[in-house]
Amino acid sequence: MTSTSTEATAEATAAASGASATERFQRDKQITATVSQERVSTLATDLLTAVHDVVRRHRATYEEYNALKAWLIRVGEDGEWPLFLDVWVEHVLEEVVNSSREGTKGTIEGPYYVPRAPSLPADADLPHREGERGTPLLFQGQVRDLDGRPVPAATIEVWHADDEGYYSQFAPGIPEWNLRASVVADGDGTFRIRTIQPAPYQIPTDGACGALITAAGWHAWRPAHLHLKVSAPGSRTITTQLYFAGGQHVDDDIAQAVKPELVLTPQPAADGSGHEVTYDFVLDPA
Ligand code: DHB
Ligand code: FE
Repeated sequence: MTSTSTEATAEATAAASGASATERFQRDKQITATVSQERVSTLATDLLTAVHDVVRRHRATYEEYNALKAWLIRVGEDGEWPLFLDVWVEHVLEEVVNSSREGTKGTIEGPYYVPRAPSLPADADLPHREGERGTPLLFQGQVRDLDGRPVPAATIEVWHADDEGYYSQFAPGIPEWNLRASVVADGDGTFRIRTIQPAPYQIPTDGACGALITAAGWHAWRPAHLHLKVSAPGSRTITTQLYFAGGQHVDDDIAQAVKPELVLTPQPAADGSGHEVTYDFVLDPA
């Protein structure tokens, strides 16, 4: 491949992720205006007051104000509002919304969830390409309730990046449901999922979010992670992620979504192929 075509591929990837994340959000999320006038006024007033405080406290200049305007316009043009909000804001929403949970800790959903992934039985190989790169991983466990009883009819939706940090349906050239599935656990809540360990994820660097990261001198990385949504009739659905002990950026996730309870320590697999790890989910009642 020539260097020109390599650059073209990389550009398509970053631009495509932002645009598809926006399109997905508009298509899949129920965005209904059930927020009362009073609540809108309260939240909007406090948000604006917080902005005013920043301007006063830091004696912002017109150059900075115009740089902000230009950047906000570009976030929309690049389709990066889902990326921006999920990286820098969602973790606080999650903290507030899940503060009363007693079971498995939640964390952010991020922009790359796709509902209605193909259903697989409890003992499942995630859909993958022939010769899919990455260390094989057996991820197994049980879904239980707060009293330790197995939860019947649980579904484990799992999605994750490939060995290069790319997600199917958001980066070009990857089969539609690659490394995505909706796994139906056994009657006793157990599951065995075979996949590969994902790579750390770099948020696209050639769009507006990347421009902010560069301008501020930050880094653009999330640690490698598995995304999960675990649900069952009568239980409160949990959206979470699992990380890998010792992995890059576990201690400095740009999205601030790592919690100590969510860090796995995989062991060499009994059959000698890659790693295996057991993780049990605990669901709160609905
Ligand atoms: C983003 C990407 C992720 O994979 C994730 O888990 C959270 C956020 C993002 O690019 O915004
Ligand atoms: Fe992710």
